Amino acid sequence: MALLNKVAIITGAASGIGRATALQMASLGAKIVATDVNMSGVEETVSLILARGGEGVFTRCDVRDTNDVEAMVNLALSAYGKLDIAVNNAGVGGTMQNAPDVDESTWDLVMDVNVKGVWLCMKYEIPAMLAGVGGSIINIASLAGVLGFRMNAPYAASKHAVIGLTKSVALEYARKNIRVNAVCPGFTETPMVTNLVDEAPRMGDFVMNSSPMKRLGSVEEIANAIIYLADDGSSFVNGHALVLDGGASIQ
Ligand SMILES: NC(=O)c1ccc[n+]([C@@H]2O[C@H](COP(=O)([O-])OP(=O)(O)OC[C@H]3O[C@@H](n4cnc5c(N)ncnc54)[C@H](O)[C@@H]3O)[C@@H](O)[C@H]2O)c1
Repeated sequence: MALLNKVAIITGAASGIGRATALQMASLGAKIVATDVNMSGVEETVSLILARGGEGVFTRCDVRDTNDVEAMVNLALSAYGKLDIAVNNAGVGGTMQNAPDVDESTWDLVMDVNVKGVWLCMKYEIPAMLAGVGGSIINIASLAGVLGFRMNAPYAASKHAVIGLTKSVALEYARKNIRVNAVCPGFTETPMVTNLVDEAPRMGDFVMNSSPMKRLGSVEEIANAIIYLADDGSSFVNGHALVLDGGASIQ
């Protein structure tokens, strides 16, 4: 089992990509600290892990809240004694509007969760990893972190920032055995995309046709890439933003 006895924090683990990553990492032997603002969802994720013979604990963590984030990292240390992997995945999608029509509260929410949240997680995860043998951090950015996203400028700005954070912190800890990479999914079949299409039905065709494969990514396909970056098999990959979009960005 590739991740046997590795300890992994996953934020936003109640749903979508976070839940799939938690389940897949647990099946490879990792001990999972699953966190989210959605308590019933994250509890269900851990129930699924335990039912399949894996190991995991859960807690409520709002990634915008420094006390919650510190407690999340402390839970990993108290439950399992170390931290090897952190998947900073919690995120919000924003609303489909032209930039001038976005209200300030939406801007603040998207930036607080998607950018401040990732920074705050790394702020507490890195000292825990340094206290051990190092680790691997995977921040979930987006295809909107490398391309503009018409009608969702705050989201694109937030995901570009995640890639900037990832590269900068990767440089800071390259000699301390901590690697920091980002994953940039194209449209993937999760509640975030379903909600987007429900809110703006004309998005449906755009979402489906954005990739030359004419399909969405699956959460398992994104989890596979996260696991590749978490695992020692990617030991020379650092500061990279790995795009998984079925070819959408090469058109
Ligand atoms: N689905 C896609 O097409 C897609 C594409 C590119 C990037 N992403 C990114 O992937 C990540 C996961 O999204 P998903 O598609 O699985 O969506 P999702 O909505 O299924 O999952 C996001 C999770 O984050 C949690 N969350 C929201 N705000 C939070 C907060 N303040 N603190 C802690 N948890 C919080 C939610 O409760 C939810 O469980 C996000 O960062 C998203 O931006 C998704």
